[in-house]
Amino acid sequence: MIVSKRKVKKIILLMLTAVCVYELLQIVYLLDYRDTKIDKLEIKDTGNTTKEPALYEFISEEESAYDTESTEESIKFILLTTSEADLQFPFTLFNKDNTIFVDNECDYTNCYITYNKSHLNEDDFDMVAFNSPDLQEVVVPEIRSPHQKYAFFSIESPQYHPVCNDMYDDFFNWTFTYKLNSDFRSWFFDIYDSNEIRIGPPVDVWSNFEKIDDDLKTRLESKQKIAAWFVSKCETMSAREVVARELDEELLKRYGWSIDVYGDCGKYACPRRYAQLCNVKIEDEYFFYLAFENSFAEDYVTEKILLALNNYAVPIVYGGANYSRFLPPDSYLNIRELGVAEVARLMHKAYKHREYYHNYFKWTNYLSYRHVSRKSQVCQICAVLNDKEEMQRTTTYPEFRNWWNRDGWENECSLIEGLF
Ligand SMILES: *[C@@H]1O[C@H](CO)[C@@H](O)[C@H](O)[C@H]1NC(C)=O
Ligand SMILES: *[C@@H]1O[C@H](CO)[C@@H](O)[C@H](O)[C@H]1NC(C)=O
Ligand SMILES: *[C@@H]1O[C@H](CO)[C@@H](O)[C@H](O)[C@H]1NC(C)=O
Ligand SMILES: *[C@@H]1O[C@H](CO)[C@@H](O)[C@H](O)[C@H]1NC(C)=O
Repeated sequence: MIVSKRKVKKIILLMLTAVCVYELLQIVYLLDYRDTKIDKLEIKDTGNTTKEPALYEFISEEESAYDTESTEESIKFILLTTSEADLQFPFTLFNKDNTIFVDNECDYTNCYITYNKSHLNEDDFDMVAFNSPDLQEVVVPEIRSPHQKYAFFSIESPQYHPVCNDMYDDFFNWTFTYKLNSDFRSWFFDIYDSNEIRIGPPVDVWSNFEKIDDDLKTRLESKQKIAAWFVSKCETMSAREVVARELDEELLKRYGWSIDVYGDCGKYACPRRYAQLCNVKIEDEYFFYLAFENSFAEDYVTEKILLALNNYAVPIVYGGANYSRFLPPDSYLNIRELGVAEVARLMHKAYKHREYYHNYFKWTNYLSYRHVSRKSQVCQICAVLNDKEEMQRTTTYPEFRNWWNRDGWENECSLIEGLF
């Protein structure tokens, strides 16, 4: 078939017109959407952990009025008060839309996350989420409905991220942090008993643990070096680097040992991409591991202790928590309580007397320490937004700054005045 040039031109013109009309319709549709202020979106159940953008169907008010089902399953909207470019943990877990809930196979997947507050009226979001590192710069919604839940998230310690502005007293409704008395926990690790029941943290009464078994004793035999520390932040608020140096000096002076420091602050290297090999190294070679926190705060015990516990090195801890609620008795050395000289002495004792060293591992037959599952962190958010009773309950933090900040926070805040 021969097609003339004119015909080709005509066809192309026709196609262009079609595209234009299509685009125009899209714009009209969007304008229309904005004008009629649709207040219900329905998430189609993808029934799969598909990576495709979640599918949304806009339903007009009239339609939904007859649709009683959709009231039950209406979408819960979550506004993250940060820009997509500046996300910090735990917000980095949250994809846009409801992908994260679908991917984690949560019981509830009808929660829609957005960074874009223009998607709704500000007071139509069910939850407005704030992350502690963002608070200095956050743009707080101008309009707030009493039904909304303003939620404070943090996995950082208040020594690095104090909340100073008095507008935050009587502001939040919920807290998602590692602090044990948060409403919901956004934390680092869980402790399970031998029946796989989660028992903490906190654990306020530990059961009695018997002696360790021979397999483990054999496993501990290869250890020859006193202590390792994997660290990348060399100067910290807690001044852990000073304490580590003191301990190192004490060990050298009295017993002729030194701590092997890996990473940016030491002379040994074990790159993160070989994490598995580094773990093996701790297990095979080291008696102790320095689980020093970078700051002091109540309940602030990070996943650092897992590196010790799960590789059969005894953690030497340094931080602001009451460690007896996180670790079984006789499973660790607390350098803040015992002091540098005593810790060095006990390290020496353990090195010399294997039987004594074994006592630190009595718990291992009974407990396991694991990173908190992402699923539980994420799913709890959509679950509570679907909990009618919980949503209707009025919850407030009239003295939020006292709750979050460390003792003496007024001084800390006055030092950084102007920043907040
Ligand atoms: C679900 O996902 C799998 C793998 O991603 C795909 O093969 C399958 O076709 C999907 N099923 C549906 C119903 O979309
Ligand atoms: C936010 O949403 C509005 C309305 O839906 C849209 O016009 C705007 O481009 C969005 N902004 C961003 C940064 O995505
Ligand atoms: C630490 O926690 C234990 C167990 O709950 C408690 O008995 C003890 O009093 C606490 N210590 C401090 C200093 O708060
Ligand atoms: C949320 O907190 C604000 C400020 O404290 C309070 O006025 C409001 O009643 C609370 N709403 C809910 C649903 O808890």
